[in-house]
Amino acid sequence: MARLRVGVLISGRGSNLQALIDAASDPTYPAEIVLVVSDRPEAAGLERAARAGIAHRAIPHPSRAEFAAAADAALRQSGAELVALAGYMRILDTGFVEAWRDRLVNIHPSLLPVFPGLHPQRQALAAGVRFSGCTVHFVRAEVDTGPIIAQAAVPVHPGDDEERLAARILAAEHRLYPLAVRLYAEGRLRIDGNTVMVAGSAAPDVAVLNPPEALASDGGSAIPRAIGS
Ligand code: GRF
Repeated sequence: MARLRVGVLISGRGSNLQALIDAASDPTYPAEIVLVVSDRPEAAGLERAARAGIAHRAIPHPSRAEFAAAADAALRQSGAELVALAGYMRILDTGFVEAWRDRLVNIHPSLLPVFPGLHPQRQALAAGVRFSGCTVHFVRAEVDTGPIIAQAAVPVHPGDDEERLAARILAAEHRLYPLAVRLYAEGRLRIDGNTVMVAGSAAPDVAVLNPPEALASDGGSAIPRAIGS
């Protein structure tokens, strides 16, 4: 069966792009990457594309509209059927978002709709949440909004700094993005308003507690007293 043709937009490191490249290197994976576009010529992700023998190009970003027009033309020429944003760091032209509506996905390192925008890991630490994670979603005009396809929850550890939390979330991103693209490629996603139904998939039937319940199994003596109590 023909594989889904995917175009990827990046701005930098490209580790999520790499996760998609690695997934697609399996011939049974239902999607292939046909084009990588970066708004920054120095993006390391372009070299990842080159190493994998994938067509790639830098489109400098004179203005949002000019980038959108050039990227749109390149994507259409490549035959891309889905566009995946993977660390594309600029706001997209709304005409582009509309033109690719429901065929444009993004990955963001938080459990949206909390902590959209810049520095979501820093926002998570400042809020004191016990879990954060990552989200793959269809893109809508408002930044980091749109129907959610898949999420991964990641615990926040005591003493985490932004870098450690970001690394833990990034490892989950590298599992989640190939999964979400696979579900799309298999035609298993149906958008119903703001909800995405995933055919043939049941949500996990477990609650994960943080801190874990086991802490209290000795009657609580192992639980350090809260400061000030
Ligand atoms: C990732 O954390 C992604 O979720 C966010 O930007 C980062 C890009 O990292 N949108 P990389 O370029 O994929 O390594």
